[in-house]
Amino acid sequence: QESPHIYTREEVKSHSSPETRIWVTLGSEVFDVTEFVDLHPGGPSKLMLAAGGPLEPFWALYAVHNQSHIREILAQYKIGELSPEDKMPSTLKTSDPYADDPIRHPALKVNSQRPFNAEPPPELLTETYITPNPIFFTRNHLPVPNLDPDTYRLHIVGPPGRRPLSLSLDDLHKFPKHEITVTLQCAGNRRSEMSQVKEVRGLEWRTGAISTARWAGARLCDVLAKAGHQLRETEAHVCFEGLDSDPTGTAYGASIPLARAMDPEAEVLLAYEMNGQPLPRDHGFPVRVVVPGVVGARHVKWLGKVSVEPEESYSHWQRRDYKGFCPSVDWDSVDFDSSPSIQELPVQSAITEPKDGEMVEAGEVTVKGYAWSGGGRAVIRVDVSLDGGLTWQVAELDREEQRPRKAWAWRLWQLQAPVPPGKKELNIVCKAVDDSYNVQPDNVAPIWNLRGVLSNAWHRVHVRVAS
Ligand code: HEM
Ligand code: MTE
Repeated sequence: QESPHIYTREEVKSHSSPETRIWVTLGSEVFDVTEFVDLHPGGPSKLMLAAGGPLEPFWALYAVHNQSHIREILAQYKIGELSPEDKMPSTLKTSDPYADDPIRHPALKVNSQRPFNAEPPPELLTETYITPNPIFFTRNHLPVPNLDPDTYRLHIVGPPGRRPLSLSLDDLHKFPKHEITVTLQCAGNRRSEMSQVKEVRGLEWRTGAISTARWAGARLCDVLAKAGHQLRETEAHVCFEGLDSDPTGTAYGASIPLARAMDPEAEVLLAYEMNGQPLPRDHGFPVRVVVPGVVGARHVKWLGKVSVEPEESYSHWQRRDYKGFCPSVDWDSVDFDSSPSIQELPVQSAITEPKDGEMVEAGEVTVKGYAWSGGGRAVIRVDVSLDGGLTWQVAELDREEQRPRKAWAWRLWQLQAPVPPGKKELNIVCKAVDDSYNVQPDNVAPIWNLRGVLSNAWHRVHVRVAS
């Protein structure tokens, strides 16, 4: 018997396109699956996400692959083995403040490595209603703190004259456990479309700075009540501080109005679970705030301190960022104090399938996507056009229950429609309507702003039709 070919990870990595052929690994084995890509029952684009690297992180998400007949399919494409030293994880440099960051899922499309910012690819984003933890979008401003759950303390500052609470993780678990499904969206979702109009300052998020999870934890209103707070001061704010900090010791911080924090119906959580698991490190282990219906920036991770203050948080991210402005405002004329901080987000939707520039079959096209609105407003309709907005069809919304005024989670939607005969291309557009009959603007230019936030124009995808 011949000894197997030995390849390094680097070599495997260089085989990630049809031109170079498509290799993947499973365990220590290397496969050339170029011929299988178009045969993949889950679709070629999904398989391609693993091109040049290991299958395990993907197959861990889609357990359908744990079947012997799938191993047999793969076995036909074996071309060799990984070199022994490449089976070991690589060692990290310790001088780097990000060296202790967790290991991430390779499906994530990275917008910035340090700090880590990444979004799931559209073909996985709407594959499941609940986003699996490993591919939930991640928005970090700083290195990820490594907190010991046994010594962790959450400080809740009391009203004047009362002693503060210092809660351990166990203490937090003693409050009634509340569980809700909430979609989190970053204010910068879809910023890349804004930067096509004119340059903006910020990470180039595409449509994936949004994800949905089941969150469980103590209700903030219960914890604040225990600390002695009441809803006396209607103008007050609840300030949150993270345990992540920059080299000067400044922590991430944000605030929400006290009225929202104290309202049991607003369901603001101090969450310690995400989809039935302890929070992953990237998402705030061991405790984060979840503010349903509100912009991601207020969902403070690695929560260290909660206080009730007469003013909003003085954090940079509350006062000097995450605000909207007129398109004519530039970095010389901007007055951050003139705009309120973003809290509830406007109605949003995007197409996740097909992808821009893709080739679709003649006959019938399936269009898929997500829709969501802030403040608990339910999505009541998604309209889809195949001709750039001249004619419209109503998409089918998935069946997930939406409670009135508490529609915290997105709706996935799809439309199956005949491709008009003779069409060579389609200009697919989607727009959602919420239960206040808020609609999305048709065009991004009039909502352009220097920071590239609140990008919610009709989403447009151009595809060609195979003849
Ligand atoms: C389905 C094989 C890579 C995502 C399937 C099925 C097979 C298969 C045979 C049908 C399952 C059944 O019997 O019901 C493979 C092989 C791969 C590969 C041999 C590698 C060479 C991937 C990757 C992803 C993926 C990297 C994800 C990013 C899926 C999904 C389905 C599926 C989502 C289910 C589709 C559905 O439910 O309709 N795959 N797969 N696959 N695969 Fe893969
Ligand atoms: N909390 C802390 N402590 N540090 C951060 O950098 N980023 C905020 C928010 N909470 C952030 C934070 C922003 S801008 C967003 S959009 C969400 O966390 C993202 O949460 P995720 O990474 O779990 O998706």
